[in-house]
Amino acid sequence: MLDLRDYGIEMWPQDQIEAFRKALLDWYDANKRDLPWRRTSDPYAIWVSEIMLQQTRVDTVIPYYESFLHRLPTIEDLAQALEEVLLKVWEGLGYYSRVRNMQKAAQQMVADFGGKFPETHEEILTLKGIGPYTAGAIASIAFQLPEPAVDGNVMRVLSRLFEVDYDIGVPANRKIFQAMMEILIDPVRPGDFNQALMDLGSDIESPVNPRPEESPVKEFSAAYRNGTMDKYPIKAPKKKPIPVYFKGFVIRNEKNQFLLEKNQNAGLLSGFWSFPLLEITEPREQDLNLFQVAEEMVQDNPKEIFTENYQLNVHWKNSSFPTVQHIFSHRKWQIQIMEGLVSDSRGSVGTDRELVWVSADEFHHYPFAKPQQKMWEAFQDGLK
Ligand code: ADE
Repeated sequence: MLDLRDYGIEMWPQDQIEAFRKALLDWYDANKRDLPWRRTSDPYAIWVSEIMLQQTRVDTVIPYYESFLHRLPTIEDLAQALEEVLLKVWEGLGYYSRVRNMQKAAQQMVADFGGKFPETHEEILTLKGIGPYTAGAIASIAFQLPEPAVDGNVMRVLSRLFEVDYDIGVPANRKIFQAMMEILIDPVRPGDFNQALMDLGSDIESPVNPRPEESPVKEFSAAYRNGTMDKYPIKAPKKKPIPVYFKGFVIRNEKNQFLLEKNQNAGLLSGFWSFPLLEITEPREQDLNLFQVAEEMVQDNPKEIFTENYQLNVHWKNSSFPTVQHIFSHRKWQIQIMEGLVSDSRGSVGTDRELVWVSADEFHHYPFAKPQQKMWEAFQDGLK
């Protein structure tokens, strides 16, 4: 096992560890947030919440959590769900590989665990999409196993408690915090202990505007005592997302239906429906181009490229719409909308692209990712 002293960390004596657990859990009992996944001990539901919470805020997650469990109440339902349903229950949450992996994990549970959620930490870790953090959270919250759940919040809190001089953004440093948690975690109430740290880290000890005076464990905190709260946690700034530019084609036919295309590429937004998109080079600051553009994506005639790719005779409108922006973790999309009308769409849906004409009140049958939702909003705003 890793020796914390090698990392300049002096662990507390046992009586202080116990006092810390008590202070934290007393505070949790009095102040814990009332969250729907805290009212269940169903590991399936707890798993759903933990996966959603990985990259998404609690307030956003709550309605998704409720409707996911309503639509797919059991492991079996998830294992058998159609892709369209999966994307629909996750629509707008982003990081869609999360839900695809969940389905694979549900299929694993059906194949290897008799359709039940596995009950040991080791087995939980074998499930697709479940790493050390999520396995620890589920094991401790659903099964009361003394397993740490180390995420950014927890690392931030521990960094301040012990003045840890290691960057919490470096994956290899996670083991330091894991080792600290293995010692600190309350053996009787591990799930509450983990969740207390999550609550503390996301509110009183949040990255922006922390309120250290209000911390129930401030007496234990080296950074608080030494006036070094500003220094911890150590974290190098993130790289900026790279800009990517698109034209987005909102095309209507004679029946007031819009052209949608299914994304058939593997990867990020595979399986989603979209208004057709064409990646372009940035219109003005060409020298700043950092990304690669396919050769046929000639910069200056997107209308012609569209007409050719989609075999449609389009009457282009001169309307102008706000530019749509959406930031993925490493990419910043900017989409300029072009509006067009097609007077005869018969026979147009015959390319090897998967295309449909859909009226706006039927859009809910077609999963849209966030950029497409924003395109539709911008389009409607532009028409006002
Ligand atoms: N973030 C991740 N898991 C959480 C949980 N169980 N409660 C609150 N916030 C969380």
